[in-house]
Amino acid sequence: MIAITGANGNLGKATLFFLLKAANPSDLVAVVRDPSKMNELSSSGIQIRQGDYENVSSMEEAFDGCDTIMQVSSAVYGEQADRQEKNVVNAAVNSDVKRIVYVSTLNPGKEKLFRAAVTCGATENAIADAGLQYSFFRNSMYMETIPLFVSNALADGKIYYPAGEGRISYASRIDIAEALAGELLRKRSGNEMFHITGAEAAGFDTVAALLKSEKGLDGEYTNIPDDAFAEVLLDLGMSEEEINFYISMAQSIKANEFAGVHDDLEKLLGRKRKSLKEFIREL
Ligand SMILES: NC(=O)c1ccc[n+]([C@@H]2O[C@H](COP(=O)([O-])OP(=O)(O)OC[C@H]3O[C@@H](n4cnc5c(N)ncnc54)[C@H](OP(=O)(O)O)[C@@H]3O)[C@@H](O)[C@H]2O)c1
Repeated sequence: MIAITGANGNLGKATLFFLLKAANPSDLVAVVRDPSKMNELSSSGIQIRQGDYENVSSMEEAFDGCDTIMQVSSAVYGEQADRQEKNVVNAAVNSDVKRIVYVSTLNPGKEKLFRAAVTCGATENAIADAGLQYSFFRNSMYMETIPLFVSNALADGKIYYPAGEGRISYASRIDIAEALAGELLRKRSGNEMFHITGAEAAGFDTVAALLKSEKGLDGEYTNIPDDAFAEVLLDLGMSEEEINFYISMAQSIKANEFAGVHDDLEKLLGRKRKSLKEFIREL
């Protein structure tokens, strides 16, 4: 059986839909904090189990009888994220899990600027150290996050963000979900590490230019200081930890930690991946 954590989230749910096209539903387990969030799939035949990353025994019970799991990275910040992800690995070790397909980030490691990259690096190490078989999906940014970066730009085309000339090799979350489903169903004997990116890396000036050419907006990117960005986040009611997280993300982009371009996604899909231009045209 295959278990998907974060199964009601964007990536988890999309992966489940691809799995449902190819697998027997009774072989699939959706692990969620709140099973009522899976009501739309309650008659699909998949098993819906409760599990919270904060509670190791709930995750162990959720993984019961599952030999393969997809571990969706934590949705919180800092040390809480480190602890939650370690909990999921420990639960896998203590249950029937043999193989983890882990949703990581493009450049994980404790020396990276992006705070989530520190968490992902530690989790990759924990999985490898535990002797579990693994496939790591080192994902670049999802295209679907662009509206979050540039929310005002969708109205007037003006992007204000502190990423300098940093570029991002955006990949479509739907393409990633399809590739994850394929990987979960593949019989592998060894470990794999995939660098999941788009076919090109684009700066925010390119995103602004695409908003102009594809959407007819008066696209323009302005690089703002970190402090000004932090003030905007403070006005949105974010905690200091959240603000530090988002500043670390911008600094990471500026340092081109998300700029790498690799072919792994197309190889896994066996077709071309979605382009940034197509995505922005459809926004
Ligand atoms: N590469 C990128 O551009 C990018 C962008 C955004 C996020 N991410 C990372 O990729 C992951 C998946 O992305 P997504 O778009 O699918 O995010 P998402 O829609 O926010 O989904 C996150 C999932 O994790 C679950 N979750 C959160 N805390 C949990 C806990 N304590 N125990 C069990 N489940 C918990 C959520 O459940 P609830 O509904 O109960 O909260 C949700 O199902 C994110 O969690 C984040 O680490 C990457």
